[in-house]
Amino acid sequence: MTQQTEKIYEHALEVLKENDQGSYTIPTKGLYPFQWNWDSCLTALGQFHYDEARAWTEIETLFANQWPDGMVPHIVFHVYSDGYFPGPNVWDTGRPTPTSGITQPPVAGFAIKRLYDRATDKAEAAKRARALLPRIDAWHRWFYDMRDPGHEGLVAILHPWESGRDNSIDWDEAFERVPTDGVEPYVRRDTQHADPAHRPTKAQYDRYLYLVQLFRSLGWDNARLHDASPFKVVDPGFNAILIRSATDLAALADELGEPEIAARNRARAEAGLAALETLWSEPHGQYLCRDRVTGQLIDSASIGGILPVFAAVPKARAEAIARTIEIWAAEVKYIVPSHDPADPRFEPKRYWRAPAWLVMNYMIQDGLRSVGETATADHIVSSSLELITRSGFAEYYDPTTGEPCGGGRFTWTAAMVIEFLEAA
Ligand code: GLC
Repeated sequence: MTQQTEKIYEHALEVLKENDQGSYTIPTKGLYPFQWNWDSCLTALGQFHYDEARAWTEIETLFANQWPDGMVPHIVFHVYSDGYFPGPNVWDTGRPTPTSGITQPPVAGFAIKRLYDRATDKAEAAKRARALLPRIDAWHRWFYDMRDPGHEGLVAILHPWESGRDNSIDWDEAFERVPTDGVEPYVRRDTQHADPAHRPTKAQYDRYLYLVQLFRSLGWDNARLHDASPFKVVDPGFNAILIRSATDLAALADELGEPEIAARNRARAEAGLAALETLWSEPHGQYLCRDRVTGQLIDSASIGGILPVFAAVPKARAEAIARTIEIWAAEVKYIVPSHDPADPRFEPKRYWRAPAWLVMNYMIQDGLRSVGETATADHIVSSSLELITRSGFAEYYDPTTGEPCGGGRFTWTAAMVIEFLEAA
């Protein structure tokens, strides 16, 4: 490492440690004061490099809050804080430690395989991985039972927040069908911590809240939510994460002598990969979302349709996606933007409507590398490190200028930087 990269590495460690609450890590102070699902799983990868045991704890704490039906919630409200909305009273899920009532991209299977593969104390890692295997398997089963009742092989999200790409352009059309009548009065907190011009709009927020109220009125009974929800979208990126996690969980289960868990997850991944092909768009050179209410593909070329390289999609698809990324790269200064820059709806500073996010970069470059698309993978890593050097550990970045946006001193951004530097 050069002196400069050493400094960046040290700084990344500082960010991880200052957001560490002992058994879980908050994404950033102020804006997000609780535990978030996929933030924690990806954060564990960075923690591993300075404390292997602590990395496992991060994921174990999340799974200690798994619901009896198998769902792993998107937020765990470990402590009281009035700095975030919607808080536990709005969700009202009745869990012993309050949680939200929706989920997030299931990246845990991928994360624990990576922790196990790299572990220096294999016996200890095997013990901890073995305890998590059935829990992650139950979460995957939950997805196919509750979010794929028609057995398509792909699961739907019922709330934009489940995608992890909260206000993506992908949801706009389907979201218009979500009513806003009866939404209880509320005061947003996010706009007190971050620039309102970078955050989702009020019209979007009303609809986020409408869905929360609807699901709450159904007692968070997942057997009823899918059919009752006016918003049901099949996101290729979300499904790719599930497929990758199922593949990795299967490999790990085989290694740890759990052949049944392995077989179930291998079957899920195979069915998912075959079904993913129905979302391919030749003109866009990437996958697209499908609106499960209308059955139509959604004409919105976002990073959600680039992310499938993280699963083992056919080589020709991965090659086409690498080309698409390079076409986008010619339009912006830093990659990977979360939306096609040629789309007039591209908004460089607004959250998931164009900005670049390091977690996405990490998963995309990982997938590209595994199929030999190393030039684009390297391009993504160098762009990521340039962003950090220029703008610090922000939540996300304007891809046209590199300007830092959203929250600062952000945990998963720091964790991804550690991963990039360790691999360099
Ligand atoms: C935002 C992001 C989501 C993330 C959360 C905490 O809601 O859209 O992906 O998990 O913040 O960082």
